[in-house]
Amino acid sequence: MSERPLADPACFDPDHFAAHGYPHDVWSRMREDQPIAWHDDGIREPFWAITRYADITSIGKDSDSFISSPGVTILRKDQMDQGGAPRVPLMLTMDPPEHHKNRMILRERFKPSVMRALEEHIITRCREIADDVATARIAVAAGASDRIDFVEAIAMRLPLDVILELLGVPTDDRDQMYLWSNAVIGSEDPEYGSVELPRDAILAAQQAMFGYFARFIAERRLSPREDLVSLLVEARIDGEPLSDIEILGFCFLLAIAGNETTRNATSGAMLALIEHPEARAALTADTSTMAPAVEELLRWVTPIVYMARTATRDIDIAGQTVRTGEKVVLFYPSANRDAGMFENPFSLDLSRKPNRHLTFGFGRHSCLGNELARIELRAVLSEILTRFPKLELAGPVSRLRSNFVGGIKHMPIRLDA
Ligand code: HEM
Repeated sequence: MSERPLADPACFDPDHFAAHGYPHDVWSRMREDQPIAWHDDGIREPFWAITRYADITSIGKDSDSFISSPGVTILRKDQMDQGGAPRVPLMLTMDPPEHHKNRMILRERFKPSVMRALEEHIITRCREIADDVATARIAVAAGASDRIDFVEAIAMRLPLDVILELLGVPTDDRDQMYLWSNAVIGSEDPEYGSVELPRDAILAAQQAMFGYFARFIAERRLSPREDLVSLLVEARIDGEPLSDIEILGFCFLLAIAGNETTRNATSGAMLALIEHPEARAALTADTSTMAPAVEELLRWVTPIVYMARTATRDIDIAGQTVRTGEKVVLFYPSANRDAGMFENPFSLDLSRKPNRHLTFGFGRHSCLGNELARIELRAVLSEILTRFPKLELAGPVSRLRSNFVGGIKHMPIRLDA
């Protein structure tokens, strides 16, 4: 044990993420000097921190030796000790064969051709969002504050509206879903959750979401439609219908995965463009280059910090032996700045090619919604850049206190800087 190289605690400290954003300098040093390092802060489950691209992909590929079912997040020990709550079935934390059977249910509905058919509708939604922002500008002219929160007025809307529409629940409930989802993902944040009792924040929001979705599940059992809740109600695994808790697990996962990530990618991308005015001007002048630009912005921002896996056998990684039952944490933003994979990884190059970033993970759990997220990001950035070319920061951004999601809570902007 004593020979294990120890990770710099800043690589996983939520207060660091809240105050400064990603600890890229720490991750860079770790990639250089200790690409696998043991992290044990006494507060959370201990784990091996994996920071190099090559090691992350080799672990992601080897899903027999590294499994997801013991949990893909690192819990605080006080959260684990409390026990008690029933575990919700989520495909994210399943292994074969269950994982495959569950993923198959949604696969058809999320395949690229189905998603591309939604593109026009998504573009229309973006226009509506921009119209509402423009209306706010009229309010500014009438004497209201000229500051708008980019997150609440723009970034949060599209991903929530789209996933709620796909699920088949009213988009009018967007603001409520935003609060619940923030409490789950921001459970350790003082504004969204509770620094002292994060587990209570998650459980309360989860219960509220379950109560909400249960109503729609009951309705769709009686009269199914074309939406995802109906698909889940009608789905069969080995000839058996899903139980209510299984369907609730799907709804919960989709409602959260489908909105937190894309929201933070949108805010993070806009911030990156504001900080790189030449790249922004070129993209605004020619939005036909949006597809590779979005890939680079996804690499740059990488909204999910990590996913964890658990070793099923003793296995050597980067010169250390990971023992059976130990967790490894795959730091995706670190992989996306690895000079062994990306030329000049710290420069934002909107035409970068190839761009094999790990923003959507790697292997059998890689993001089911990646095509949808890409379409949403292209649409919303095209609309906002061309409609509000003078949009500028009007104050410091405030960041989520989380070491799991790189969140921007508020980003004050001015439309006519
Ligand atoms: C920029 C936006 C997004 C990012 C960065 C992102 C990131 C990720 C990552 C890293 C994983 C891998 C988990 C692992 O390795 O264990 C994942 C899985 C997943 N994502 Fe996304 N995601 C995004 C958008 C979406 C959207 C829009 C949806 C759905 C509407 C979605 C649904 C899912 C689901 C269901 C899984 C679980 C897949 C499985 O376990 O097989 N994601 N996502």
